[in-house]
Amino acid sequence: MTSELDPVKLMKQEVGRAAASRVQSGSVVGLGTGSTTAFAIQFLGERLQSGELRDIRGVPTSFQASVLAKQYGIPLTTLDDVDSIAIAIDGADEVDPNKNLIKGGGAAHTREKLVDSLADLFIVVVDSSKLVDRLGSTFPLPVEVLPIAVTPVTRAIQKLGGRPELRMGVKKDGPVITDQGNMILDVQFDAIDNPAELEKTLNNIPGVLDNGLFVGVADLILVGEIKDGQPVVREIQ
Ligand code: 5RP
Repeated sequence: MTSELDPVKLMKQEVGRAAASRVQSGSVVGLGTGSTTAFAIQFLGERLQSGELRDIRGVPTSFQASVLAKQYGIPLTTLDDVDSIAIAIDGADEVDPNKNLIKGGGAAHTREKLVDSLADLFIVVVDSSKLVDRLGSTFPLPVEVLPIAVTPVTRAIQKLGGRPELRMGVKKDGPVITDQGNMILDVQFDAIDNPAELEKTLNNIPGVLDNGLFVGVADLILVGEIKDGQPVVREIQ
């Protein structure tokens, strides 16, 4: 009962609904990962079930997204079978004033970047706590690494001034294993002054798959806020 009134949940629900309402019949939709996108997937399923929306296909960015899509009756497809993705909906851990993002709180950023970057329109869905003046201020940067490369990549990142920590499982002993079978280093930097450069520098380290910096990828940010006790959605173009 109390969770129904949780303001963060209300904000997530509202942006999820707002993003899902922008999807048109016949579209291929990139399905992001995380608790906010989960609401968008749920509302897409409801629109399909009511008949308001027809003939969409989802490209999931994670095992979680594909499980939710199946649960809510959204047909799935793959990048091999589509020419383009009309719209992608995905969450973020941080959003800066230039619409650059940190993602990967769910360890899914490698596939998310692939799918979100291919979309004609990439909509980010966040609650207002995710807005920051500077990336890296509240959330460490996730880096997906081949298991055999964890030690050398850790050293290389330390040389760049980062403080990497291997992400550990919850209710699972040992490290988090990604959907691709890799591991995650969560890296704290004192400051991320140039996200575009850091994104490339990290991805150039042998053994790194991809990192959670999304620079110049987002088209539209939908921010859930509470105004006068009600959840509302603000757009950042
Ligand atoms: C997963 C992600 C998520 O989109 C991000 O962590 C935000 O999640 P949530 O909507 O649960 O706050 O990048 O890899």
